[in-house]
Amino acid sequence: MLVFETKNELEERLNKIWPSNNLGLVPTMGALHEGHASLIKKAFLENKHVVVSIFVNPTQFNNEEDLKKYPKTLSADLELIKSLSKDIIVFAPKINEIYADGPILKKYDFDGLDKVMEGEFREDHFNGVGTIVALLLKLIKPTRAYFGEKDFQQLRIIQKLTVLENIPVEIIGCPIVREPHGLAMSSRNERLSKDLRLTAGFIYETLTTAKRKFGTKSALETKKWVRKMFKNHEKLNLEYIEITDVTSLTPVKRKSNNKKYRAFIAVYAGDIRLIDNVALN
Ligand code: PAF
Repeated sequence: MLVFETKNELEERLNKIWPSNNLGLVPTMGALHEGHASLIKKAFLENKHVVVSIFVNPTQFNNEEDLKKYPKTLSADLELIKSLSKDIIVFAPKINEIYADGPILKKYDFDGLDKVMEGEFREDHFNGVGTIVALLLKLIKPTRAYFGEKDFQQLRIIQKLTVLENIPVEIIGCPIVREPHGLAMSSRNERLSKDLRLTAGFIYETLTTAKRKFGTKSALETKKWVRKMFKNHEKLNLEYIEITDVTSLTPVKRKSNNKKYRAFIAVYAGDIRLIDNVALN
């Protein structure tokens, strides 16, 4: 396994790989778990060469405290990557290597995709994601790049980003990996107590029932039911529940037979913010 901290070293290695046009990229912020492992395995199945980047990007955090508390576990991450394959290239730059003149935030027009849900509750989050992902894609020039559907809104925005920035890459979405009681895997789960981690299984349980309800009820009624389920919950606080069509991410007013819908949720378990989503049809 090769681990590079600088762009120059990485580019020197990639110079030998680019002609094959067979390079997969899995961008991460570290604190790797089974969800990341599934992305890396898929990237390896579909590409001869794979780069995993590990960089906790400050410009996508709208909350200083959240950034400070974000788990940093580089040596465990490297162990996990090595257990998947010894051929993986890791790019783990320090902050100055990426933002030499201090963090910059590029502003994008994502055509409204960033105005709902995460975008509404986390100001500039998606401009930060766009800034770092564009930078990584331009540097690493992968043939394919892999992102988890747990961040489905991010996935749609990154697809849009590649059009805006004219970056020739295939963006591949990968299914959510869940803990045994249903909680979507996330680096933030590490910060939950054992008890809260089990309790948080309620989020997926509720989404699964909401999916059944959506078969016969309107989006409004389904969201109302979800809100009621969380209203009296002792340990979980609902931030939002939204149902949108999967392409434009606009909230559904009236269901139409030829559209695909998804339900999105954000919930606080103590001070830890968890997000999840399910396909509804
Ligand atoms: O999904 C993440 O871990 C991050 O948003 C990403 C895509 C690595 C950009 O920092």
